[in-house]
Amino acid sequence: MVNLGKNRDMSSMIRVNHAGESGAVQIYKGQLAILKNPAVRSQIQEMLAHEEEHLKAFDALMKEHKARPTVLSPLWHVSAYGLGAITALLGEKAALACTVAVEEVIDEHYESQRRHLINQPEKSQESETLLATITSCQEEEALHKNIALELGAEEATGYRLLTKAVRGLTRTAVWLSTRV
Ligand SMILES: [Fe+2]
Ligand SMILES: [Fe+2]
Repeated sequence: MVNLGKNRDMSSMIRVNHAGESGAVQIYKGQLAILKNPAVRSQIQEMLAHEEEHLKAFDALMKEHKARPTVLSPLWHVSAYGLGAITALLGEKAALACTVAVEEVIDEHYESQRRHLINQPEKSQESETLLATITSCQEEEALHKNIALELGAEEATGYRLLTKAVRGLTRTAVWLSTRV
């Protein structure tokens, strides 16, 4: 049975995820505009390719659910690119620290959506598809975080403060995107 309440719920989940993935694409593009080290660039290019796939998946779901993007989408676009570029200007390790912080928040966000979907008493084809999409994206976000750690993110100057600030910004963006 079609349950409008639940559909709206799913549309809002898809909308925030679409905004997040589009932000992730822009962060990595912003970093690539600045960073020169070929070894780091090739890793970021790989992450960017994943984010483009994630965005495509949520784009398709958004069309299926006839959901609209968040009204803040243009703002996220510019801010995310800026965040990527600015952290990259602070240095390669700072850019990687930004990745750790963003991916950590997105991983938590996907985990909470996953639990929400799993705990719903009624499952539908749509909710199963959404769950599968979230799960596969979440696995890659965790991978991105680990790659950034392996590349030495924690060696960034002011790592704790920087990651705390970026986590705060990302949480605020997620919070706002679920509301408008
Ligand atoms: Fe992603
Ligand atoms: Fe990611």
